[in-house]
This record gives sequence, C-alpha cells and structure tokens, in this order.
Amino acid sequence: MERKPIKDDIEIILKRAVEEAVTAADSESLENWKTKYLGRKGEINGLFSRLSEFSAEERKDAGARINDLKNKLEGIYGERKEGMAEKRRSANLSFPGKSPSIGALHPVTIVTREMTAIFAEMGFGIASGPEIETDYYNFEALNIPAEHPSKDVWDTFYVSEKDKILLRTHTSPVQVRIMEKTSPPFRVVAVGKCFRKDDVDSTHSPVFHQMEGLMVDEGINFSHLKGVLTHFITRMFGDSVKVKFTPSFFPFTEPSAEVSMSCNICKGGGCSTCHKTGYIEVLGCGMVHPQVFRNVGYDAEKFTGFAFGMGIERLAIIKFGITDIRYFYQNDIRFIGQFS
Ligand code: DAH
Repeated sequence: MERKPIKDDIEIILKRAVEEAVTAADSESLENWKTKYLGRKGEINGLFSRLSEFSAEERKDAGARINDLKNKLEGIYGERKEGMAEKRRSANLSFPGKSPSIGALHPVTIVTREMTAIFAEMGFGIASGPEIETDYYNFEALNIPAEHPSKDVWDTFYVSEKDKILLRTHTSPVQVRIMEKTSPPFRVVAVGKCFRKDDVDSTHSPVFHQMEGLMVDEGINFSHLKGVLTHFITRMFGDSVKVKFTPSFFPFTEPSAEVSMSCNICKGGGCSTCHKTGYIEVLGCGMVHPQVFRNVGYDAEKFTGFAFGMGIERLAIIKFGITDIRYFYQNDIRFIGQFS
C-alpha cells in the first residue's frame, strides 16, 4: 500500500483548521476546535503517532513539519481567543454606562440650613461649641445645681466621671461659652450634636441635634422672644400654622416657656404625631436667668436676653412627616434621598 505523503495531509489539515477556526463563532466552538486539533487525541497528535511509520530521515522532516503545523494552529487559537475577548470588551462599550450615584443631603442638614438661613435673615450670627463638655458648662454655669432633680432629664455619658467631663446633653453650654467671649449686644444661633442616656425608640435617640439661640442687649423682653420665634416657625412651616407659648421651667431661664405649633400632619385634628392634641411641642425658651449672666460676668441689672433650644430631628419629623427617628441614622439612601 502506498503511503500518502504526510506533507499533503499537513496542508489539508492546515487549510481545514484555518477555515474552521475562522468560522468558530464563539469561545465554546473555539475550545472544541482546539480539542479537535491540539487536544490529547487530536489531529496533531494523530500525525505525531504516524511518525513511527517513517524512516529515521523522513521522520526528522515530517516531525519538523508537524511541529510547524502545531505552532501555526496554536498561534491561530491564541489570536482567535484574543479577538473574541477584544470583541466582548468593545461590545461592552455599547452598553449603557453606569450612572454615578449622586448623594443627597441628609434631612438633618437640609433642615439645619433652612433654620440657620431664617435666623440669618433676622441678623443672627452662627456659632458652635464642643460636643465634649465639662460639668461646669453643661450644668453649673446654666444654674443647674449638682443635686437638682431637673438634672435627671439631662442624664448623659461621662468621658471621665472623676474629672466631670461628659458628652453635652444640650447645646445650651454654647450660650455660656459665647457670653464668656462676647460683650452684648449680640444675637447668635449654634447647631450641633447632643447626647443623652436615652433608650432608642421611635422618638428617642442617644445622639441627636439641637439648635440653640441667644440674644442679649439692653431692653430685650419677652415680646422680642415671642416675635422672633413666631416669625421663625411661620417662616419654616407656613403662615397658617398656629404658635402657642405655654409656661414651663428651665433652671437657666426665668420666665421659661415651651412653644408648640399646630400639628401640620393632621392640621390640628389630632393624630399620633401630636398625641391627639392637635399641637406639637417644638422648643424650649425663656428670658436668660440673671444668675447665668452673673456666672459669665455680665451686669444682670443692665442686660437682658432670651434663649431658646430646639431639636433638629423633631423639626425635620414635623416638616417631612417622618414617622420614626431611627430612620435618620440608618444611612439608607432610599430614606435620605427623599428630601432634597
Ligand atoms: N436646653 C434645653 C433642653 O435641651 C432646651 C432649652 C430650653 C434651651 C430653654 C434654651 C432655653 O436655651 O432657654 O431641654
């Protein structure tokens, strides 16, 4: 039997392999192609196994030709594979891009900015004070004596109980710090975090925000306080809102008042947010107690002033109809993104 020259077989295989490699449409058919030609039982190895049929001299030439074919097929495989990857990469360019997710202002930030803007319109400056305070600024200077029962509502976390260093329970200590550095007349607001030893529920959080306000001059009286706060609330919530001042007690003001506004969720009809009263308490305020003025070295005969403090979350809850204070701190963009 006459043997077919291996040279011819090699050429036939090369031609066929090139055709098939070109038409392989996806990586699966390319891998099948690789198995068919370059696999362990593939055609190249089939050719190698025929070498034993040849004389030593022919074998050398045939071996070189088969190796050459093998190199070519491996080259083709590599190129096709790379070509497919490239196509996949460039095909991705036609997909719609991933739009960058743009953050949103936190409702506490939105409300803080709106509040400070309203007070700025009335000529108030903006101040701030430390979140870590001493017992003196948080309590003593504000006329809250060590054993006074009113201190219970301001129970807090102590950084050092021995040195009486604590996390401030309200922004009122900023009043004292401002007065120590400033001579009247002035009017100022300060916003910041406050801390209380409260258990978390839908209306309480151990960390929250307050805005403090203070105005001191000669001849400041309760009418100024009423005018400023009524203007603030109607500016913030609309002219139809009713504002109510009720007598209250704070050691650092005399007289003291609590301010409520008609509930803008039920419009005064009574709902769970206003505890069916039609009114929501929004802030505490009063005329600065003369003892506080004396504590900072002011002449309490000459100067009078008013102060107020309010919870920012509380105002955001009323403004946006938020049902649970915990939403503020969960960092969930589905919540945060709803307000700006
Ligand atoms: N600091 C008080 C609190 O957190 C709120 C407050 C009441 C602030 C009356 C004041 C004020 O400045 O005059 O409960």
